Amino acid sequence: MDRIRIVGGERLYGTIPISGAKNAALPLMIASLLTRETLTLKNVPRLADVNLLARILGNHGVDVTIAGKRTGQRHSDGQTFRLTAEEIVDTTAPYEMVARMRASFWVLAPLIARCGRAKVSLPGGCAIGTRPVDLHLTTLQQLGAEIELEGGYVLARAPRGLTGAKVELSKVSVGATHNALMAAVLARGESLIEGAAREPEVADLASCLIKMGARIEGVGTSALWVQGRETLYGAEHTVLPDRIETGTYAMAAAITGGEVLLEGARADLLEEALQTLRSTGVEIEERPTGLRVARNGGGLGPVSVETQPFPGFPTDLQAQLIALMCMANGTSQIRETIFENRFMHVQELARLGARIELKGDTALVTGVGAGGLRGAQVMATDLRASVSLIIAGLAAQGETMIGRVYHLDRGFERIEEKLSQCGAHIERLSA
Ligand code: UD1
Repeated sequence: MDRIRIVGGERLYGTIPISGAKNAALPLMIASLLTRETLTLKNVPRLADVNLLARILGNHGVDVTIAGKRTGQRHSDGQTFRLTAEEIVDTTAPYEMVARMRASFWVLAPLIARCGRAKVSLPGGCAIGTRPVDLHLTTLQQLGAEIELEGGYVLARAPRGLTGAKVELSKVSVGATHNALMAAVLARGESLIEGAAREPEVADLASCLIKMGARIEGVGTSALWVQGRETLYGAEHTVLPDRIETGTYAMAAAITGGEVLLEGARADLLEEALQTLRSTGVEIEERPTGLRVARNGGGLGPVSVETQPFPGFPTDLQAQLIALMCMANGTSQIRETIFENRFMHVQELARLGARIELKGDTALVTGVGAGGLRGAQVMATDLRASVSLIIAGLAAQGETMIGRVYHLDRGFERIEEKLSQCGAHIERLSA
């Protein structure tokens, strides 16, 4: 099993290209199930989750081709995927696949919408809380699907097709909004999705669906109006930049000091997180080519933050912020409101010398000052948790060795390469 070795203490200087967003690429790939024609996706990141989803879609009958590298293209440019679901050959998504990646559960909506039936295993994914799927199921029921649970599988049927309806989401859920949208675009008649997630990745899916012929209004708001269509068509769409990767590297630059240009990053996708970073004393400046992040000499101030659905502070940056606040002057309060049990990184950060007290859903992080974090052997526990260990390792004295890095490969493209190009001492050791 691969490990990552970091020798901390180097400031980061240089340019880090930001990849396409994993959380947008996955639902966009799934949207290919909605049409017989080819969906071309550009700027798809090179990630384990993307490859796994391509295999899952392949099982359903989607023909997936990845365009070769063109002359002049850099390694940092995303991949171009062509996905053609001319015929759906299998409407079952088996346990072995869905258990490995929660987002693959989202094939449920397009499969019912297009084929009138689906059998999809209940999901797995990162071990962060119970992560139910009740909202996904009630949404589909509101659109006319009959749902049964049997042997760990969701059996969904809509023999006469789905019917447009008012769909009310009682809690903000990114996945349930993706599902509702993908079902409503092929349903008969109008739908109104209320309480929709406003995350940029939902808006990215909606704008791709519009290119495919869907009629959707209210994109980017919590009320999405959809006029269902009988057929959708092929289209070409570019995946938006990854705001979580952007925030992660901004924090890596902030913890080490130095100055980096996050190439291709868009500030409007993470205003709240950038504001939080600015409040700690980090300089952030919008440039035509991306975001410049710098901390030259000054200390870091503590923060009081709670995670919230977009446009609030994202839960997917909570672990990284905790790592950063280990170096702040004072005590920070970081409250997790989206997922329970999303503090598994805390015990690993403690191995590096972090002082973090957990009180229910809140982490109290007391900065340990320069030299306070010391390298140690630690273990990645989930995707975002593992990257918080990298951030802390970059600032720790001596060697940090991170095990179970397959969690990282699910969501961060070539992380050791991107960081080492900016001067970090980081390498992957293959077992
Ligand atoms: C997506 C993101 C994940 C991010 C999360 C919240 C992808 C691939 N993953 O996950 O990185 O951390 O949004 O921004 O895009 N819930 C229910 N019932 C449901 C569904 C969700 O109670 O049927 C709850 C969840 O347990 C959680 C909250 O709703 O407490 C938000 O979850 P949701 O937005 O659905 O997360 P995902 O879409 O799985």
